[in-house]
Amino acid sequence: MWSLKEKRKLFRQNLTLTLECDLMRTIDWKEESNSVVLVDQTLLPKEYRIIECKTLSSLCEAIKSLRIRGAPALGAAGGFGIALAAFLSESRDFETIIRDLKIAGKTLKSTRPTAVNLSWGVDRVLKAVSDAFDVQGVREIALQEARDIAEEDVVTNKLIGESGAELLKDGDTVLTHCNAGRLACVDWGTALGVVRSAIAEGKKIKVIACETRPLNQGSRITAWELMQDKIPVTLISDSMAGWVMQQGLVDSVLVGADRITQDVVFNKIGTYSLSILAKEHDIPFYVAAPTSTFDFNGWEGSVKIEMRDPDELRFFGSEQLAPKDVEVFNPAFDATPMENITAIITEKGVFYPPFLLDEVLV
Ligand code: MRU
Repeated sequence: MWSLKEKRKLFRQNLTLTLECDLMRTIDWKEESNSVVLVDQTLLPKEYRIIECKTLSSLCEAIKSLRIRGAPALGAAGGFGIALAAFLSESRDFETIIRDLKIAGKTLKSTRPTAVNLSWGVDRVLKAVSDAFDVQGVREIALQEARDIAEEDVVTNKLIGESGAELLKDGDTVLTHCNAGRLACVDWGTALGVVRSAIAEGKKIKVIACETRPLNQGSRITAWELMQDKIPVTLISDSMAGWVMQQGLVDSVLVGADRITQDVVFNKIGTYSLSILAKEHDIPFYVAAPTSTFDFNGWEGSVKIEMRDPDELRFFGSEQLAPKDVEVFNPAFDATPMENITAIITEKGVFYPPFLLDEVLV
């Protein structure tokens, strides 16, 4: 959590690099109706639509169905979810509203288990409201803390971008997986934030986006958001990555993370395979993530990998792709061992092996 002094310092720094387009933040609070508004990412790239979540169950549905997704955006969703629960609670006294918020926190956390930011956002707002004295105070503090999470996410991503941009050379081509861009965050992005910052510094950078089956966050979201910013992007299917690397078309691989434990980086399924391919072809493999994605006490074995609906593989929308009753294995994430990672880029700087997580905290 930033102290006020730290925040002022950060805002004074060069955080004005912009490639901003007309898009709203991925997730925000709507003052007039005390509700959460977010970009419905299941509709992209066909339609850019903002939806309003007025109830906790509609926000939970939006998280489960990936209308809002990406670790940092889920952190903001967790924070705004507690603020929403505070405004919806009919409790008249401090103890009962706190009890309501704790129940809401459990419900929010159960929607998606792997990205640690969701729990982090929930817990941060729950901790902040314990300083309140009454129901009104709980509401005000919850909303302020949730807004701070969103605000800090943008600052954090620009700092990640600044640190990571040093790793990219003018003319580089970066291969990325899934979507670790502005739509996975409140704005700017982590992995794609590094690309944006490098471009804002005047470097010419191209991106190769892996399709990212089965839900196609790469083709639907990464390709779309980069094209909005006129950043050169070429789409490939996941199975093409090895060949593209072997042909010398990739200077570095740059991905985001859902949870970083002492021994591995959890990210979208397929990241582990890319790390092996990068190692084989001597290509640097970078992970860009805020420190809110670090699970300092966690190990690979302590983390639950989300298993998703088998129909995500059997169908694409209403299109049947496989026998309806074929057995399916559909984990949403995999774990990349630290030895496959060249550097981890955070808002606190670039870290190289051995990745001693305590150092990241300093
Ligand atoms: O299932 P998703 O779309 O939420 O998965 C997202 C990812 O794996 C991203 O790479 C990760 O959250 C980093 S986002 C900055």
